[in-house]
Amino acid sequence: MTHPTSLGVVAVIGGTGAEGSGFAMRWARAGLDVVIGSRSAEKGARVAQELKARLGDVKLRGTSNLEAARMADVVVLSVPYESQTAIIEDIRPGLAGKVLVTVVAPLLGEKKGRYAPPPGGSAALEAQAQVGPETRVVAAFQNVSAHHLADLDHMVDCDVLVCGNRRADREIAIALAQAAGMRGVHAGALQNSAVTEGMTAVLIAINAIYKTRNAGIRITGIDA
Ligand SMILES: NC(=O)c1ccc[n+]([C@@H]2O[C@H](COP(=O)([O-])OP(=O)(O)OC[C@H]3O[C@@H](n4cnc5c(N)ncnc54)[C@H](OP(=O)(O)O)[C@@H]3O)[C@@H](O)[C@H]2O)c1
Repeated sequence: MTHPTSLGVVAVIGGTGAEGSGFAMRWARAGLDVVIGSRSAEKGARVAQELKARLGDVKLRGTSNLEAARMADVVVLSVPYESQTAIIEDIRPGLAGKVLVTVVAPLLGEKKGRYAPPPGGSAALEAQAQVGPETRVVAAFQNVSAHHLADLDHMVDCDVLVCGNRRADREIAIALAQAAGMRGVHAGALQNSAVTEGMTAVLIAINAIYKTRNAGIRITGIDA
């Protein structure tokens, strides 16, 4: 099992956004060394300072997406699906030999609560095809709502489904889930990310029907 503190530097690409900033704060609070990336190095540095002001003495800084990827041992991608290809192209020189954990959930349906798969099967499969075999893509956190992440006193009540082709790579995302206060669950090969990304649309539909923002996934029947 991978211990969160053995992960080294964790970059959150798009870490200025709702989802990425929540994880960045939770990981920094757990003692991880975190760098957030932005399309603007200045914005990255400014937002990192703002997040740090809420946390106190933690390892959290911000810079450009490419610089953050270069500095990192593990890279987390947390940008809108529409900008995924361009952002990956930008950070690609910093990705070789690393695990890229993608949080991206493509919401292409006419309504966000109706799933429409992207042309490459899933956003994570498209990312893997783009980066090539030197970088191993893992899909995780697609079903974790940003709503409660920023409230650091709130325990996020859900499991994190982790898809990736190698167990050791999935363990990295499971360690990140643990550091953020959640249980990570091995959910099979990267191909299965089509299902976990699709579940995001299902959760959005459930939230709309039940008038909440809190729907989440919990796996039963496993001893983990
Ligand atoms: N929000 C949720 O509850 C949630 C839940 C599960 C999964 N996700 C997935 O997580 C990813 C990030 O979600 P988010 O809610 O954090 O997204 P967001 O706030 O809209 O965007 C995250 C960051 O991406 C960067 N970015 C790059 N290209 C952009 C563009 N064309 N338009 C806007 N921002 C752009 C921005 O950072 P800079 O301006 O600093 O570059 C922005 O702060 C998405 O793929 C989403 O589907 C979100």
